[in-house]
Amino acid sequence: VHSFAPDLSAVQLAGSPSRRKLSSPHAFPPDFLWGAATSAYQTEGAVREGGRGPSIWDTFVREPGTTWHGETGDVAADHYHWMLDDVALMKELQLKAYRFSVSWPRILPQGNGPINACGLDFYDRLVDALLAHDICPVATLYHWDLPLALHEQGGWLTRETAYAFADYAELMARKLGDRVSWWVTHNEPWCSAYLGYGIGTHAPGIRDFSSAVLASHHILLSHGLATERIRAHAQTEAHIGITLNLTPIYAADESEATQQGVEQLDVLHNRWFLDPLFRGTYPEQLFNNLGVAPPAIKNIDMQIIATPLDFLGVNYYSRSLIRTPLRTQHYEPVVPVPEASYTQMAWEIYPQGLSDMLLRVQRDYAPSAILITENGAAFEDSWDGRGHVPDKRRVRYLHEHLLELETVLKQGVPISGYFVWSLLDNFEWTDGYSKRFGLIYVDYITQRRIIKESGRWYAAFIKEVTATN
Ligand code: NOJ
Repeated sequence: VHSFAPDLSAVQLAGSPSRRKLSSPHAFPPDFLWGAATSAYQTEGAVREGGRGPSIWDTFVREPGTTWHGETGDVAADHYHWMLDDVALMKELQLKAYRFSVSWPRILPQGNGPINACGLDFYDRLVDALLAHDICPVATLYHWDLPLALHEQGGWLTRETAYAFADYAELMARKLGDRVSWWVTHNEPWCSAYLGYGIGTHAPGIRDFSSAVLASHHILLSHGLATERIRAHAQTEAHIGITLNLTPIYAADESEATQQGVEQLDVLHNRWFLDPLFRGTYPEQLFNNLGVAPPAIKNIDMQIIATPLDFLGVNYYSRSLIRTPLRTQHYEPVVPVPEASYTQMAWEIYPQGLSDMLLRVQRDYAPSAILITENGAAFEDSWDGRGHVPDKRRVRYLHEHLLELETVLKQGVPISGYFVWSLLDNFEWTDGYSKRFGLIYVDYITQRRIIKESGRWYAAFIKEVTATN
């Protein structure tokens, strides 16, 4: 299984449209966090084990028609039981960092109240195993699995959930804050608010834009409250940030109307969260564009939300190329680009969007540091039944994005790390197990793991880059 030694230069050049290589000396600093990411509901499985309480995803996936073939995260990649093997695989991939999420209902089955020691113990063991392998843990506190009990009391539509989240964040900082120094409060709050409460394609499946903005406000508030609590209670230096899914929007024609559409969608996809976090205000057009009244905001809220971040987490997958007329309240179908390649998600592969977006974030918001907390692609991978999963398109995808990253680092954008989504194939939300993002293939029948060609390539890449530091 381990005999496949990747020839980095060959992989870089094989059929690659951009025949570029990393320049020498390259721009990646010695302490750069080379990593991969997962999330609890997507990988852990064991949803009824170890005292875990239910989350909104456990019930959402059981509603007919919500996920591909009715699939659920009940078992997923069974990482709850394979954790030590998975950490060993991380080491084999040369990872310097691992981004995982803590399942709130595993820690607090009711969302608040009684603590589940067994749940804490799982993350304790995970963090210890990572550190024993010199892998830096990056903990995300909310990757969409709200405890069901809190949802039944109003979920993100109530301020109380923001306070409950802050208590949970403090608990995690007290328990893991002696060993974890990188914290992501929320993952992609746009998805939690807009998909979860606006168009209802994610849990809890509510379709109402007023609810979406109210949820977004409480999520942002919870982020600010949690930041203060982690800072106060972590025993080592804490780097605290939030991860946004940013999508650069481009015009497919030169009309004035399309230009306006670009700005509208930029507000919806990017500024909705960037502006409050960095400027302490919502973009003026947001509520108007969504056709709703602004949520009830207390005086102090915007100040709490704009608590300075130690880093901004950016998840980047693709861009949107649009032309008017727009249906602004919905996912805008992007204009197809005949010469482009697409991933299995039907997302255009557009590496330059990563650098465009980072330069823009740097210019308009100037975060003190940036982590690329996710970047990756789904393709129809197949396993040969022995030790090989060829996925050259993923290799090319990752390589092209890393070259863009190098370019912006050279232009002075302070990027501290890069995490491939994902370490392992896992439960891709509404797409179930039909989309594989992993560097490692998971055979869901046996739970056997097979490192894909991209995993071996990434390992060689990290080795080469870190060797020349
Ligand atoms: C973003 C999300 O954070 C993650 O959960 C998801 O699997 C990937 N994107 C791919 O869609």
